[in-house]
Amino acid sequence: MSLHIIILAAGQGTRMKSSRAKVLHELAARPLLKHVIDAAQSLNAEKIHVVIGHGREEVTRCLANENVHWVMQEKQLGTGHAVAQAMPNIGEDDLILVLYGDVPLIQVETLNALLTRAMDESLALLTVVLPDSSGYGRIVRNAAGVVQKIVEHKDASESELEIKEINTGILAAPAAKLKQWLGQLKNSNQQQEYYLTDIVAMAVTDGLEVKTTKPTAIEEVSGINDRTQLVALERYYQYQKAKRLMLQGVTLADPARIDVRGELHVGMDSEIDINCIFEGEVSIGKNSKIASNVIIINSKIGDNVEILANTIVDHAVIENECRVGPFARIRPDTILSKGVHIGNFVEIKKTTVGKNSKINHLSYVGDAEIGYSVNIGAGTITCNYDGADKHKTLIGNHVFVGSNTQLVAPVKINDNASIAAGTTVTKNVEGGALAISRVPQKTKSNWQRPSKKK
Ligand code: UD1
Ligand code: CA
Repeated sequence: MSLHIIILAAGQGTRMKSSRAKVLHELAARPLLKHVIDAAQSLNAEKIHVVIGHGREEVTRCLANENVHWVMQEKQLGTGHAVAQAMPNIGEDDLILVLYGDVPLIQVETLNALLTRAMDESLALLTVVLPDSSGYGRIVRNAAGVVQKIVEHKDASESELEIKEINTGILAAPAAKLKQWLGQLKNSNQQQEYYLTDIVAMAVTDGLEVKTTKPTAIEEVSGINDRTQLVALERYYQYQKAKRLMLQGVTLADPARIDVRGELHVGMDSEIDINCIFEGEVSIGKNSKIASNVIIINSKIGDNVEILANTIVDHAVIENECRVGPFARIRPDTILSKGVHIGNFVEIKKTTVGKNSKINHLSYVGDAEIGYSVNIGAGTITCNYDGADKHKTLIGNHVFVGSNTQLVAPVKINDNASIAAGTTVTKNVEGGALAISRVPQKTKSNWQRPSKKK
């Protein structure tokens, strides 16, 4: 018996009021459907079948790298019809799990619990009890509490409408039985659709046990129909991430003002101030401080690091005890070694900075290798681009670069050299030397400044 997962994602999503397919709208910067595929992937299924219809070109293009089997549903004739489209690719002895592309936060533990209930040739349904069950399919049980059928809201009687236990839509069933039931579906109902939910009554008739299980949180089974629901679920998701961080020993100034769009790992006693965004894979060590409005993308930050306000760090490595910002921009392929200080309005790209070196003010450093204990003065610029190609600037250890220096690459400044303020360096500088290129100053005494004629 192997597991096949069918994800329904063919619906239009009219209420999103969008030209983009509903399942491509993003939660935590990942398409809704991608969340569901990722959950499905961790169940070790034989195959994942995604039923698509509306916006299918866009969906398959956007998720082209996913290891799934795309199934076309030409016309959206109902959830039963949608599941039926995937059945020809599934064997009789298999177990089937049905998920939804617009229900992104379903958890693997919940699905495992559901699958366990279906293992012995039972039909397993994921249900929840809602204070307001309107709009949903109701779980109809007999006096003994045994599930008899699901009735859709539009087809329900007065007394059935009172039922608070609803169908989440997520279910697991043995393939042979499901095939048989799907073949018997009729669309003689209010919506003239082939309801997947009608299989429940068929299972009861066939003498199969219908078992139910509940998710840990209601949000796991929340479907997205419009942008208000999308943002509500985003906030829930972000709060879960924030809570996990706090329970791991991280101080957050406000759990409602942090956004994690990927995987964030933070060591104990680190602190994160408000309005920080973390994208992709980010790790931060112990005792580090991230000030407000910091954006960190796919980067590794060490212990005892201080990132000051309004700094952006993108695809970079910042080692222990560095201090970066405020208002610094650390661009891809930058490595800041232990104890480096980067100050305000400094942009660094594709550069390695050695231990304890400082670039404290207003500089652009690109395509450079900088040694240890180097001081780069305010307004230093590596002129790395000649209009056609990029060139490297190599700076040794203990070098002092005075303010307002231009380093015209390719150029090399050797250990212990000094560059006088205002110098344009165009030639390599030997170790221990002073390079100075400055127009000698002239002073004109009693200078009359020009003034406007009256
Ligand atoms: C369905 C269930 C209902 C349950 C509710 C939970 C049925 C008949 N009803 O109702 O019991 O309480 O979900 O939200 O199953 N889809 C397709 N192809 C189709 C039709 C639907 O792929 O032909 C997809 C949609 O994109 C959507 C999902 O299936 O993601 C659910 O379809 P929808 O029509 O919204 O079902 P509901 O009326 O919400
Ligand atoms: Ca729905």
